[in-house]
Amino acid sequence: MFNTETYIQRRSKIMLAVGDGLILLMGNDFSPMNYTDNAYHFRQDSNFLYFTGLNLPVLALTLHCSSGEVILYGNEQSIEDKIWMGPQKALSEQAAAVGIEQVRPYNELAAALQTARASGQQVHYLPPYRGENKIQLFQYLGIPFEQQKERTSAALIKAVISLRERKSPAEIVEMEKALAITKAMYLAVMKQCKPGMKEAQLAGIAHGIALAGGGELAYPIILTKNGQVLHNHEHHHVLQDGDLVLADMGAASAMQYAADITRTFPVNGKFSSQQKDIYQIVLNAQLAAIDLLRPGIKHLEAHLKASKVITEGLKSLNILKGDTEEIVALGAHALFFPHGLGHMIGLDVHDMEDLGEHYLGYDEETTRSTQFGLKSLRMARELEEGHVMTSEPGLYFIPDLIDKWQENNHFAQFVNYAELQHWRNFSGVRIEDDVLVTANGPRIIGPAIPKTIEEVEAACQG
Ligand code: GLY
Ligand code: MN
Ligand code: MN
Repeated sequence: MFNTETYIQRRSKIMLAVGDGLILLMGNDFSPMNYTDNAYHFRQDSNFLYFTGLNLPVLALTLHCSSGEVILYGNEQSIEDKIWMGPQKALSEQAAAVGIEQVRPYNELAAALQTARASGQQVHYLPPYRGENKIQLFQYLGIPFEQQKERTSAALIKAVISLRERKSPAEIVEMEKALAITKAMYLAVMKQCKPGMKEAQLAGIAHGIALAGGGELAYPIILTKNGQVLHNHEHHHVLQDGDLVLADMGAASAMQYAADITRTFPVNGKFSSQQKDIYQIVLNAQLAAIDLLRPGIKHLEAHLKASKVITEGLKSLNILKGDTEEIVALGAHALFFPHGLGHMIGLDVHDMEDLGEHYLGYDEETTRSTQFGLKSLRMARELEEGHVMTSEPGLYFIPDLIDKWQENNHFAQFVNYAELQHWRNFSGVRIEDDVLVTANGPRIIGPAIPKTIEEVEAACQG
């Protein structure tokens, strides 16, 4: 938890920015996996966490913009709770530690919201993403599910983004704790990987280190020999001599700050010359893109820079041909790089994605593209000091996509489909780091994790 003053200031700022009405922040409840008492790991809502620091289920906060009143709704533990969950500090004490003096029973929330509504106050709420909170919005405010998104408060969304987007030095310290745990996860899987092991064995080693670090995973592990499948959560393959492993993993710190790192490494500890060629292109693209992560530069520019470096690299391998600017402008390179360069990261691995990417990543001057590849860029607008962005270019050979484009002769003026046949089973490479935008330039946060070809090979060989 940060100090009391941090939370008091965050709440004052949000009330000032929204100006009037009542702000409702709903915490998360346990979410059942297959029956009520068998729940997924509890994860507090990040907005609730940002303004309260309280990592407990079944809480809600109201902030009254004109009076400055802040009320926490939640229940003290019953004897049943103490028996089954263990005794905790009184809720009123935990609230006082984050500067909240007023605590009321949870079942008083509905009446308080209805009273505010009846007196003509606007109730500002954020886009709900969990079924439980959608039901509550319907029960307490009568807002039908299908209208809940459009009736969220744009004023509140913009105000939350304006606070959460620039990370404080204390938040960077938390993210660096998550990154230190993540480094240990990578060193372990690189060292222990051997031909004949299952992907699941390595994923299990990494998950264990995240738990031992005091938090959990920030998102489910991707660890696969089929790195060309972008969100591949299968772990059942046996790793063979000559395969590459693409691992996209990040721990969450005890305070829930996320790390998001990707490394690609050879199962047998040595990259083949074909693997080196692709790996070096991706690394060059990542380094060139990171260099542009500076205040005042649009993230779109960094994405396009990475795209151009990848295009140049593929031209040197005779897989693409033609004018680099034209290839990138038309999106032919997206056959090999079909996702965006990166996203904001903080309390959420895709920070504040619940608030809507059109608020978070785009603005009046930067509208979202509909082009394949570029449309998946989650943030295109100008970077500011304090933003933390992932930088994660990748290069993939996706057989189904190659076949589809070839059948349609798509971009045949740029794609050397005959040469591409030699690469179609290559899989994929992605390299990802978390980068703080500072007045002095980009800073990769956290301890260095093996990244160059030499460093990765050395880590694999222990
Ligand atoms: N780990 C999810 C992502 O890289 O965006
Ligand atoms: Mn990732
Ligand atoms: Mn990422």
